[in-house]
Amino acid sequence: MDKRVANDLTAFRLNGAPAAAAPRAGERLSETLRERLGARDVKVGCDAGDCGACTVLIDGAPVCACLTPSLSVAGAEVETLAGLIRSAPEARALAEAFQDHGAAQCGICTPGMMVAAVALLRRAPAPGVAAVERALAGVLCRCTGYRKIIDAVMDVGAPARHAPESGEVGAAIRRIDGAAKVEGRESFGDDGAPPDTLALRVIRSPYPRASFLMGDLDDWAAARPGVVATLTATDIRGRNAFGVIPAFVDQPVFAEREARFRGEAVAAVIGAPDAIAALDDKDFPVEWTPLNAVETVPAALDAGAPQLHPDRPGNIMCRGFVRTGDAEAALARADIVAEGVFETGFVEHAYIEPEAGYATLEGDRVEIHACTQAPVMDRDSLAEILDMDRAHVRIVPTAVGGGFGSKLDLSVQPYLALGALKTGRPVRLTYSRGESMRSTTKRHPATMRVRIGATRDGRLSGLSFSGDFNTGAYASWGPTVANRVPVHASGPYRIADYLAEARAVHTHNPPSGAFRGFGVPQAAIAQESLFDELAERFGIDPLEFRIQNALENGAPTVCGQIFRQGVGARACLEALRPAWKARRAEARASNDAAKRGGRPERRGVGVAAGWYGCGNTSLPNPSTIKAGVDASGVITLHQGAMDIGQGANTVIAQIFAEALGAPVERLRLLGADTDITPDAGKTSASRQTFITGNAARLAGQALRAALLKLCNAGPEARIEPEAGAIRVIEDGRAHLLPLAGMATDSEGYVLKVTETYDPPTKPLDENGQGEPYAQFGYAAHLAVVEVDIELGTVRATGFTAAHDVGKAINPMLVEGQVQGGVAQGLGMALMEEYLPGRTENLHDYLIPTIGDVPPIETIIVEEPDEHGPYGAKGLGEHALIPTAPALLNAIRAACGVRIRRVPATPSRVRALIRGEELE
Ligand code: FES
Ligand code: FES
Repeated sequence: MDKRVANDLTAFRLNGAPAAAAPRAGERLSETLRERLGARDVKVGCDAGDCGACTVLIDGAPVCACLTPSLSVAGAEVETLAGLIRSAPEARALAEAFQDHGAAQCGICTPGMMVAAVALLRRAPAPGVAAVERALAGVLCRCTGYRKIIDAVMDVGAPARHAPESGEVGAAIRRIDGAAKVEGRESFGDDGAPPDTLALRVIRSPYPRASFLMGDLDDWAAARPGVVATLTATDIRGRNAFGVIPAFVDQPVFAEREARFRGEAVAAVIGAPDAIAALDDKDFPVEWTPLNAVETVPAALDAGAPQLHPDRPGNIMCRGFVRTGDAEAALARADIVAEGVFETGFVEHAYIEPEAGYATLEGDRVEIHACTQAPVMDRDSLAEILDMDRAHVRIVPTAVGGGFGSKLDLSVQPYLALGALKTGRPVRLTYSRGESMRSTTKRHPATMRVRIGATRDGRLSGLSFSGDFNTGAYASWGPTVANRVPVHASGPYRIADYLAEARAVHTHNPPSGAFRGFGVPQAAIAQESLFDELAERFGIDPLEFRIQNALENGAPTVCGQIFRQGVGARACLEALRPAWKARRAEARASNDAAKRGGRPERRGVGVAAGWYGCGNTSLPNPSTIKAGVDASGVITLHQGAMDIGQGANTVIAQIFAEALGAPVERLRLLGADTDITPDAGKTSASRQTFITGNAARLAGQALRAALLKLCNAGPEARIEPEAGAIRVIEDGRAHLLPLAGMATDSEGYVLKVTETYDPPTKPLDENGQGEPYAQFGYAAHLAVVEVDIELGTVRATGFTAAHDVGKAINPMLVEGQVQGGVAQGLGMALMEEYLPGRTENLHDYLIPTIGDVPPIETIIVEEPDEHGPYGAKGLGEHALIPTAPALLNAIRAACGVRIRRVPATPSRVRALIRGEELE
């Protein structure tokens, strides 16, 4: 029902110009701006005042547009980022500073962040850190860890650093795709949906387990003006199932007969946007019968538990296993054994952009524009679901407002495609924040039983790990987690006698999937906590204990893999020594003073290390890059690796430019699109810099060789594209290669190369022995915390993060990844716990704010890897693996309690300090 009011808003000015709109009664300003006035630079992350993405200026003051009734701005001046960029010098200066500092990663928070910063800069042109933190406190960022944003705001007014650069490997150039992010031009999710697009609403189960019966949908739809169509499982011509691992394709697009988790899709309604917005899900004709659900791993493993999938007895989806030597015998020989049970909960990705997109029909093809980390996987899955040839499905990824693993799985895509095919019209869908949290994947909750032994000389002697991972209702990336954890649960250390087992167990919860680390961060919490216990019981310095046992070149991993080069674990730990010494001395002095003054704050310093194998575990994992030169002299890079904020567009281009020997600024970049870019694999497992980077290196080298051959030039010649020709300079002499007369191929190229790289791995045998990854990356973090021993609150006050990246292709982007990872690790350690049905919004589910993330010193360690492009290693996952255990070890150092269940909320910390039973 359209309840528009007669009142127009002619006195309302938008970015300096008159604006008029007729909103529904109670409509929010964010919706009016985006949907009626086309101001898609205003982003919506929560619609509840929690994330600040929708921040605009109303008469100069920053407000959340989603909390502002549209009628209330009559007569006001409303400014958004796009308008400010046109009119406000502060905004333009800020845009330069954001790019110089790498302060926009995915860019979804950037409009809100910059608008809030403009308001501050107008009041205080040279603000201090505290003022910036206060002014931006209401805007959440999930990518950056905030420090670069603070630096950028404080740096406004400084001379712009940007100058034309060749962008060679190692240069900290700006992001190639950064300008659109800081000017409000970036198009996310459904931002680009055509004006007459229909809206789609998914109907979801309100119960963790329920059978259901559909009523007469045709009658129901016919009785509702504006409703155009409904969808259920009966509309699926192909396979009503999707999944990311071929042997575990088990998640229905629409559940049939029984829903297996709260939030599972059972139907969808398509119609005019206002009709869909007015829809009450409770009116939908579906009859639910709640059934007995198993929501915890112990309940799911119980003998009488309902079985989620009949072919997976006992609700055990799969197991992972690694064994070398004899762990039990080594533990028996050990002088001390530290042991414990550690628990972690569901962690929500909480990217600021909920899943969104739109689909259109183009002749006999369906095109899906949506946020994703894996366009080719999406296309192939959709072809199966729709029973269409892959050639008839095109995925055009939009900008991705954060992914962190969850956007590897299908979300909105099948509904959009089915909707467009059924109605013959464009269809759009944006998940609400609650819908996103209820229905998409989470980090696996884990229960881990671990024993680690050491001998009196401080050498490790045996490690036994057994972990159960709650994988929810469907497989998603659960098999990957079960396989990765045993390979990594040793940490980057030498352990000759080792046994690690992991099980992925089904429960009636949202599927657990990929989240930055695939289970390794959970395992690191247990292993690194027990390392501290061992060091403490031996009276050995915890950092030196780790250095003494660190993996080195030539030493076998627990899988028996021997790297002769590139093992940077020890180098990362050693890089922390100066900070370790200084911060511990400061902590001692601070605690002495606090005790003397009777104050409750206690400071502690903790350390932890981590490692992560880059790419798929023992599986083919290729990436392909294409590049061409057209007759006008333009060199085009077809770069299909999804940039989800981490910087693939820039890093891959830098590697290609280096190999080609031409400036990066002269390249034309084409981003991922299944019609125009070859398959660069998914953006996951820290694989893009390493694997797609290698494909880009090979493509650059091949194109260079072809150009030099045409000019009869030697290998040292320099290449400079120019209008209609390629100039090749050798020994100071220029040779011009005219392109106009050359034959062009079907894509308009006179010269084209396509190169593929697949990292060398070997399968794991029945004991998990083999060569699972061609390279690992390494990290060590130091964390400083202050614990209030009366309240149990924990405040992180500083980090030093050492990362071996082999070769920093772009040091600014490396720092950005590290700082963002640290912030996510902090959230996991101290505050984040997704409780189905309870924390399904961003005010009950807490992620770190700008005030929670302290200064982070990043130390870049470069132990070149023989397989990496120019020695580079992957980095994405590594950045948070050591953070949580370093924080937990710091809490122990501060107040003597050992956290065995994260997050370390104030109530848990306080209870441990008081010696009380935990819930
Ligand atoms: Fe308005 Fe999140 S969308 S605060
Ligand atoms: Fe802030 Fe992605 S850059 S949320």
